[in-house]
Amino acid sequence: STYYEAYRPQIHYSPSSGFMNDPNGLVYNPASELWHLSYQYNPYAPKAANQHWGHAVSSDLIHWQNAQPAIVPPNENLTVLSGSSVIDENNTSGLFNDSTAPSDRFVAFYTELDQRDPSTLYQRQKGAYSVDGGYSYTIIDEPVIDINQTEFRDPKVFRHNDEWVMSVVLASQYKVVWYTSTNLLEWTYRNSFTGGYPAYQYECPDLLQVPVVEDGQQVDTKWLLILSIQPGAPKGGSTAQYFIGDLDDDYNFTPDDSLTRFLSFGLDDYATVSFGNAPQDHAPTIIGWAQNWAYVADTPTGDYRSSMTIPRELSIVRTGPTDQYEGYYLKQHPVDLSPIAGEVLENSTEVTKEGSIALNGDAFDLQFTFNGSAKGLYDSNEKPFAEVQILNEDESSVVKIHIDYSIHTIYVNRGNSGWEVDTFVNYAGDTFKPPSDGIVEFRALLDRSLLEIFAQDGLYYAANVFYMQNANGEEDTPAKIKYTTSESVNATQVAVQAL
Ligand code: FRU
Repeated sequence: STYYEAYRPQIHYSPSSGFMNDPNGLVYNPASELWHLSYQYNPYAPKAANQHWGHAVSSDLIHWQNAQPAIVPPNENLTVLSGSSVIDENNTSGLFNDSTAPSDRFVAFYTELDQRDPSTLYQRQKGAYSVDGGYSYTIIDEPVIDINQTEFRDPKVFRHNDEWVMSVVLASQYKVVWYTSTNLLEWTYRNSFTGGYPAYQYECPDLLQVPVVEDGQQVDTKWLLILSIQPGAPKGGSTAQYFIGDLDDDYNFTPDDSLTRFLSFGLDDYATVSFGNAPQDHAPTIIGWAQNWAYVADTPTGDYRSSMTIPRELSIVRTGPTDQYEGYYLKQHPVDLSPIAGEVLENSTEVTKEGSIALNGDAFDLQFTFNGSAKGLYDSNEKPFAEVQILNEDESSVVKIHIDYSIHTIYVNRGNSGWEVDTFVNYAGDTFKPPSDGIVEFRALLDRSLLEIFAQDGLYYAANVFYMQNANGEEDTPAKIKYTTSESVNATQVAVQAL
């Protein structure tokens, strides 16, 4: 394999070479039982340009097999930007005939950036179809939607109420727009939505239904709108926010409240969208680009650049009337990692105040539970905390996960993690609900240059990249973990497993 570079994540998808950004064309094929992951791809160099749809498939959302690019731009002036794929089993489009098995009838939608006339630079929604189950596509000549707009992109198509629905953005008009269709080729405008954090552009919208779960049982279903924004995210660069609400038959999307919620409190989760056509018994699953437009072009790498986040399974919880933040919230959990479970390096439920664990391997699943006493919770003299440090061998680079009980904040500090540039924001945190029992827990996935955190049973998620260097300034990776707690806080569970 060519997947040897020091910083290259090993359990996260990355292209063998070239530049990758947004996930595209995410769809599950029930006949082959394969998940398709396409992505914005420049096969020629590790920088953004020459957009294609790269392509990989997986049977478990963890092991990915690279395939040929699924969509190749017809020429250098017509680039293939982000979009989605559906399976047109019933041939609603009339694009297929009986020689193509229903499950092989893939139709993709992407934005064509037309650079032929530099004075217009129109963006149009294009269709493409595949008769081989999504491995190669034929572009349909006429755009499916062309409204002479320059910032009109990122179509995400799904099936609802016996029709096809497309979420798409008018990026610099801050509008998510919905179109519907019976045949995937002719589309009718239905409605639009504006709201949320006022960054410079809207990108990569996704509207999907997510189960509301209480005590392990589904009690309801809500609509989730994921909307990526950049530049000008709260911590700079790019980020994805979300809204939970209701959708009426006219595609009026009404969020339940006006709170701004983000998928990640970290810096590196963007263009996050869901896999379409997932099996009924599979939780809705999203994947994001584990990078930030603010600094991706500078990041140290080899012939390839960037990886995806781990695929994350979604549910919605009602936090309940006695909680500080009333309303519906998203929970995110990594997909089942048991196919790659490795050696258990630590598994302790002893009450401890500090400890260290040597990391032997490339990727790790960490679990920490801390118990802050009632006294400690709001004691401003003690400033109760728990901190987990991820270090390289000579301890010249460190990434800290810090839980501050007095201001009930969890944050990642990559300020001394090695490589940096001005736009590489050091701190990324979120405020959590003060737990009545004092217990704060998180699970973290650590993979060479990528750290993901799932805290408080998935209520808080963060993805952050970092690039460790040893004392000589050479590329380095995590080699040990150390944790400490303040006087009134104890570690009650520490588990580390190699992946
Ligand atoms: C988001 C984005 C999309 C666009 C694509 C181009 O990261 O800017 O809006 O389709 O990247 O690669």
